[in-house]
Amino acid sequence: MSNSIPNIKSYEESYSNFSWDIPRTELGYSDGNTINIGEYCSDRICKLGYADKLALIWEGFTGEVRKFTFNDIRVFANTIANFLKNLGLNPGDRVCLFMDKVSELYFGFLGILKMGGIAQPLFSAFGPESLFTRLDDAKTSAIITQKKHLHKVRATINDLPSLKHIIVVDDDGTKPLKEREIAFHMEKEERIEKFDSYPSKAETPSVLHYTSGTTGKPKGAQHVHYSIISQYISAKYALDLKEDDIYWCTADPGWVTGTSYGIIGAWANGVTQCVLDAGFKAENWYKFIEKHKVTVWYSAPTAIRAIMKEGNEIVKKFNLSSLRHLASVGEPLNAEAVIWSKEVFGLPFHDTYWQTETGSIVVSNYPEMKIKPGSMGKPFPGITAAIVDLKTFLPIEKKGIVGMIALKPGWPAMFRTYWNNEETYNNKFKNGWYLSGDRASIDEDGYYWFVGRDDDVINTAGHLVGPFEIESALLEHPAVAESAIVGKPDPVNMEVVKAFIALKPGNDPTKMLELEIMNFIRKKLSALAMPQEIEFVDSLPKTRSGKIMRRVLRAKEWGEENGDISTLENDM
Ligand code: WTA
Repeated sequence: MSNSIPNIKSYEESYSNFSWDIPRTELGYSDGNTINIGEYCSDRICKLGYADKLALIWEGFTGEVRKFTFNDIRVFANTIANFLKNLGLNPGDRVCLFMDKVSELYFGFLGILKMGGIAQPLFSAFGPESLFTRLDDAKTSAIITQKKHLHKVRATINDLPSLKHIIVVDDDGTKPLKEREIAFHMEKEERIEKFDSYPSKAETPSVLHYTSGTTGKPKGAQHVHYSIISQYISAKYALDLKEDDIYWCTADPGWVTGTSYGIIGAWANGVTQCVLDAGFKAENWYKFIEKHKVTVWYSAPTAIRAIMKEGNEIVKKFNLSSLRHLASVGEPLNAEAVIWSKEVFGLPFHDTYWQTETGSIVVSNYPEMKIKPGSMGKPFPGITAAIVDLKTFLPIEKKGIVGMIALKPGWPAMFRTYWNNEETYNNKFKNGWYLSGDRASIDEDGYYWFVGRDDDVINTAGHLVGPFEIESALLEHPAVAESAIVGKPDPVNMEVVKAFIALKPGNDPTKMLELEIMNFIRKKLSALAMPQEIEFVDSLPKTRSGKIMRRVLRAKEWGEENGDISTLENDM
């Protein structure tokens, strides 16, 4: 087990004395220097004398284990960077990673950044329509994928002239590759020992993560290489990563947690991390922790609730004594989950709060700080946070009042814009504050308590699902006149997707039609975005200006008051 003295000894002291110069100095960065995340996470660690230290312990769904040192990841990232460069890709080009959690995903991420490209990770469960929207918006030049996902890529390319290269990492030659497709084999490629990384500067774009809003298409939150300053120090202070840790972040790099902390945060600290490329099963997770002697575990409430459901007895079958720090992100972490984990693991889960847009943890529970179960903790050092009034967007001084979480812009990992969507980006700022879109309150001791989102985005199992994409898919069905997507409560996933549908005249709301509609949209959407339930209604509640009031439908599902329905058309 790692030593038990936390990296920050006193939260209050660290918060008061913090300066971004601390991580900048620790990383050897000063203004004007080149800074490349790919290089900082591999070459720099090797130069510090850790070339032979394990960087990645990877386990596949068959139980196969592969181990890679920091020198290995350096060379493999070089190899991919060189391959991309030789294809004719240029700095600034968007290169999409569309893969399960195979090792090439991790090396590919660093490789894209080393050649100066913008990494665009997308969750491999996305269907062709979700994939198309995001590749089209980013005008992505190349996509790195696996054979098993190739059919989804092929379904999009006729309408994507900008997508010039489809790189397949596990092509076995059994089926011929088509136009624009090319095989890349990590094992067969000539290993590139030396690659001159693109001399990116602090503000050079690095990663493009798509996230959903209530209206419009998903938005690409664009990050820069300088983000590593925040990701490094928050992995050190909030996740408490130390030199001899074996760290496991369960998130998929298709989402921001999987890159900010499943790649950058850990490797910027020179920490060994584990990846399990297999579906969720409590027993397998415990086995994984035992086998690899995981010390720090960063997971999500849905997974924690799922393992809670499996009970306490199963935990006793495993030796989990290597664990020393547990953290969670993505959704509200129920107080019961914190208390339960203390009971069964002897360690509480530490809630952390942040977003794709913030790029790094902004509110958190720290190892040395008293946890109030159910609270998200306190602002990260270097982050000025407040609760602002929902109408005036001015900070609320009084404690315990619900408002919106707002952050003073300027921390290194903050997104720099929404790709092609400056207007929506600008709308996220009021009175000099970045508005998170989440409602919370602060208690007398300065702890933040999450209340809910301020928009119609659904958080299902930690994944944000925007109603727009699903409603658009439904509208393509000939029987659907209009639809509204809302979240309904679910004991494990917190929320699941529910569709309200008003049919066009002449269509009967039958079970058959429901199934037909489900099958129709299944081909377009990812499993996560699929409605778990369809309810046929005569009409949808709307505002006088004709906007669907999802809030009213949602409140019904949650057994809540309707809230403000003064603008409701159907009530008039
Ligand atoms: C929600 C994930 C409650 C919130 C890193 C936020 C949380 C959205 C928490 C961002 C938490 C994240 N407690 N809610 N600790 N952490 N959220 O962009 O609504 O995928 O705005 O980034 O998840 O989700 P995203």
